[in-house]
Amino acid sequence: MDFNPYELVPHPDSPDLPGTVIVRDTPEDVLEVLGADLYVQAKACIRGFGDFHMALSGGSTPEPFYRKLMSDPSLRDFPWKKTHLWIVDERRVPFEDELSNFGMIRQIIVQHSDIPGDQVHPMQAERDDADVRYEDELRSALEWREKGHDRLDFVLLGMGNDGHTASLFPRSPALSADGRLVVFNDGPSVTPPDRVTMTYSLLNASRFIAVLVYGQHKRGTIERVAGRKAEPKDLPILGIEPLAGDVRWYLDQAACPEPA
Ligand code: 6PG
Repeated sequence: MDFNPYELVPHPDSPDLPGTVIVRDTPEDVLEVLGADLYVQAKACIRGFGDFHMALSGGSTPEPFYRKLMSDPSLRDFPWKKTHLWIVDERRVPFEDELSNFGMIRQIIVQHSDIPGDQVHPMQAERDDADVRYEDELRSALEWREKGHDRLDFVLLGMGNDGHTASLFPRSPALSADGRLVVFNDGPSVTPPDRVTMTYSLLNASRFIAVLVYGQHKRGTIERVAGRKAEPKDLPILGIEPLAGDVRWYLDQAACPEPA
């Protein structure tokens, strides 16, 4: 099939997920569309507000996307100088640990872009006050914007096989952290080590949420999301419901359930 990132005709295999669903045949094609959408969002926010606040997830799925951001000629003039980079969630390990989300993002993006150091916002996850420090950092970076625009512009999420997103794991305490922006999360359902995570309140206030999922191993979970029979406490990705923003799913065909 000829590849057209702006194609408006829905893919015949698109599952019925809560939000706009973009399906492409291969992960590479999916990343192409995601890159184009991210670029447009970044440029539009910088035109409107002067800067762009983007929060990135860890995990294995987005790694190739981060490499693409650094190497794809069509993204060469990505406006890093006006971008703030936030971390959606973090494991409570040093940045040098291979499990550190910021460690991976630093290696792939931060060290190879011209993003100013004071616009890079790692979570200091090992500290006892990591949650409130990050909340303060978010508030002070966003508070100068007009009321209503003081929110994250773009959030990239993944989804685990258990339906977790960010570090919001099924039946874990962080799911009910009302009024908080960032919290610690631990407990039996949290894949160790313990985490620090953005909450539903912060994520759902974002302007644009991209959920990137590919591979056949995620198909069963996509099926559960499309079935909408579970509750967010059992399938936390279902709690992603932006108040006034968009949620867009980026899937490859392998992640899509067979059409009925
Ligand atoms: C993390 C994430 C997490 C991730 C999912 C999916 O730090 O692990 O932020 O929410 O997106 O666990 O992970 P994979 O992409 O590795 O399947």
